[in-house]
Order: sequence, then C-alpha cells, then structure tokens
Amino acid sequence: MATARGEFTSRFGFVMAAAGSAVGLGNIWGFPTQAASNGGAAFLLVYLILAFTLAYPALMAELIIGRHAHANTVSALRLISPNAALRTVGTTTGIAGFVVASLILSFYAIVAGWMVAHCLSSAALLLGMDGASEWLVSFGFVRNLIFMLLFMGLTISIISAGVREGIERWSARLMPALLLTLMALVIYVLTLDGAADGLKVYLLPDFERALEPKLIIAALGAAFFSLSLGVGTMLIYGSYVSDKENLPVLGGMVTLVDISIAVVAGFLVLPAMYVALNNGVEIFTDTGALISEDTLIFTVLPELFSTMGATGLIVSFTFFFLMSIAALTSSISMLEVPVAYTIEEHGIKRHTAVWMIGGAIALVSTAILLNFGTLFGLVISVTTRYSQPLLGFMFCIYAGWVWNRNSILQELRKGNPEVEQGLFWKVWPWYVKFVCPLIILAIFLQSLLG
Ligand code: PHE
Repeated sequence: MATARGEFTSRFGFVMAAAGSAVGLGNIWGFPTQAASNGGAAFLLVYLILAFTLAYPALMAELIIGRHAHANTVSALRLISPNAALRTVGTTTGIAGFVVASLILSFYAIVAGWMVAHCLSSAALLLGMDGASEWLVSFGFVRNLIFMLLFMGLTISIISAGVREGIERWSARLMPALLLTLMALVIYVLTLDGAADGLKVYLLPDFERALEPKLIIAALGAAFFSLSLGVGTMLIYGSYVSDKENLPVLGGMVTLVDISIAVVAGFLVLPAMYVALNNGVEIFTDTGALISEDTLIFTVLPELFSTMGATGLIVSFTFFFLMSIAALTSSISMLEVPVAYTIEEHGIKRHTAVWMIGGAIALVSTAILLNFGTLFGLVISVTTRYSQPLLGFMFCIYAGWVWNRNSILQELRKGNPEVEQGLFWKVWPWYVKFVCPLIILAIFLQSLLG
C-alpha cells in the first residue's frame, strides 16, 4: 500500500487535472474524425447520448471506487471484493487496465508527436527555414520516431516529478487558452466558402444511420476514450481526491468540459474539411470514404491556416502548441496508471518505474511505426473500441454488484451531507448496477451480430 500518497491540493486542481486527462487528442483528433467518417450528425447525436447516459455514470464508478480506496486500480478493486475469487478477478481487471493504458499511450505518443512536429514546422517557417519546415510535416519513419521519442521523453519527465508538482501544475495552465483558440477558429472557418456544407453534415442527422451497429460501437468507444475511462486513469485521479469534495459534481464538471470541447472541435474540423474540398484538396475517395482518416486534421487544418495569410503561421503555431500540451496532460495520466501500480505494489522507486515502463511503451510505439499500415489502426480499435468499454463494464460491475452497498452509500455521503435529497443518490446506485452493464452488453452483442 501507499505510504505518502499525494492529494490534490484543491478542487480546482482536481478538476483541471481530470479535465486535462480527458481533453486531448480524443476530442480534437479522435472525435471529429470519427464523426466525419460515420455520418456526421448521426454520430454526434449517438455520442452525446452515450456520453451522458453511459460514460458519466461509468466515470463516477471509477472516481468513487478510487476515492474510497485511495490506492491504485488493483488494490482498489481487491479492497472492495468480499472474497478471494472476486479479488482475483479484480487484480486481473486492474492489470488489464494497465496494459490497455500502456497500449493507448503507444499510439497516442505517435499522434501527439505529429502535433509537436506541426507546431515546430510553423516556427521554422516563421524563422525562414523552409526546408526544415517541410520535412517536419512530411510523413516519414524518422520524423515519426523522433517526435514520438520526444513526446514520450516529456511525458516521462513530468511523471517522475510526482503527483502535485507534476500533474497539477501542468494541467491548470493552458486549457482555457485551447478552448478560446478553438472558438476563434470556429468563427473564422464559418466565414469561408464551403463551410456551410460541413455544418450541414455535422448538424442534420440521418436518423437511420444512428441505429447502425458500427456507428454505435464507434461512438461508445469515442466517448470512453475521450473521458479516459476503462483503464483506471480516473480511478487513480479519484484516489487523489480529498474526502471533503463532492464527487458527483466534480465528475459532472469534467464530463461537461470534455464533451463541450469535442463538440466545439467538430464545429471546426467538419467545416474545415469542406473548405479544403472547396479549395481543391482531395478529401474523399471515389466511394465517398475519407482518404486518410488518421491524418485528416493534419491536412485540413493546415489548409485552413494557409487561407489566413501571414497570421496563419502564428495561428498554426499556437493551435499545435496548445494541442501538444493538451496531449501531454492526457499522456501523463495514462502513464500514471502502470506507474502507480508498480510503485505501490512492488515497492519500486517512482523514477525507476517511470523510466522502465515509459521505455517499454516507446519500444511498442517503435514497433507500431515500423508496421504502421497494419498495427496503427489495429491497436487503436482493440484498445479504444473494445477494451475501454469492456473494462468500463467491469468497473460498473464492481461498483454495482461486488462492492457492499452500504459502503458505497457511505462513500457518496462524504463531502456532501445533503446527498440523500438529490437525484444522484436515488438513481446512480441502481443505474450503475443494471442499466450501464446492460447497455454496454447490448451494444457489443448488436455489433457482433450486426
Ligand atoms: N481522454 C484522452 C483524450 O481524449 C485519452 C485518454 C484515454 C487519456 C485513456 C487517459 C486514458 O485524448
């Protein structure tokens, strides 16, 4: 067990850190790209429904278990298990979460590296270094490797500094700036020719598509990925929250911030796609699919910035800089999952654990880069589309069925003496027990059969 565990020094610190974990590539790269390739508005609709009805209650399961245990995922699930068999399942679930978090980081560091490279490319252009700038944005193994390593190195250094100094300091800083930049870009893009087509795609749902199993499972994965669920990240963040805080409200704030940023990013990326199309950039194949799904925003956003004349370079630099920071506050929360477990369960020093685990993940990223065509998409769909919702299902089962009901109610009373009058108290305990697991199962069955 932990000896000197850190705690968030303030409510603001927690909300910023948890929102920092939630807001990242999932919002600005993942969600808009998925929306663009899955029928736009239909995807947005299903995503919103699932985010509030499923992801928020699942987030609460993780936060509440975490705060109760004040420990890493494995110890937390063991602590609330009444018998040896359930303790074993808990250990397995916790370890699976840590493997999935590490695998997510292995592709995440690659995409985040592209963000850093694009940021530096604008800086290089500003300095008149045209050749370097071009190299930085051209897709190649060496560039991808260098920037993945750079990004992993940054993540590792921050995580070795520990909870308070590391996470809190970084998270509280640049998110408001990211949101403002996004909103300014949305206003700008909407003034351009072609943007209206993108807006239509994003806002006018084709209700038939909303029922497609493929779309629903993609939206479920996107919601879980975006809120950092199913791997133990939020459980660990919950474990650093003091007993004086009102968790359902804090979790609600994190959900709202996260979902809003994704939705705003959609208002930028989909119109920007059609502006690019209008300017003669190829976006779709003959069959109407997206040409390069993974790198979509790296084509359409630079195209958008190039319509701004000289200021475009500064805007581009700012945008990719803020995105790199947003990715960093997410990646540190991923690395914290295996690290917290290793330190607390095996008594290894933080510094050693961070470098060992971070190094191993960088090796996996390198393997992905060497086999990009096959591995990149595969790792993304195995982790985000299947593993995260399935592990989220397990956390709901632990909160709803395994954990003693009286203890969970007692945990809910902490920091909120009037909780028994509220809706959360009346609904959530049975909701997380019956409704969440059933919906997740139903979505999986439908996608297997459909
Ligand atoms: N939520 C993060 C994002 O949207 C990704 C993430 C997933 C972070 C899982 C931690 C754990 O970018």
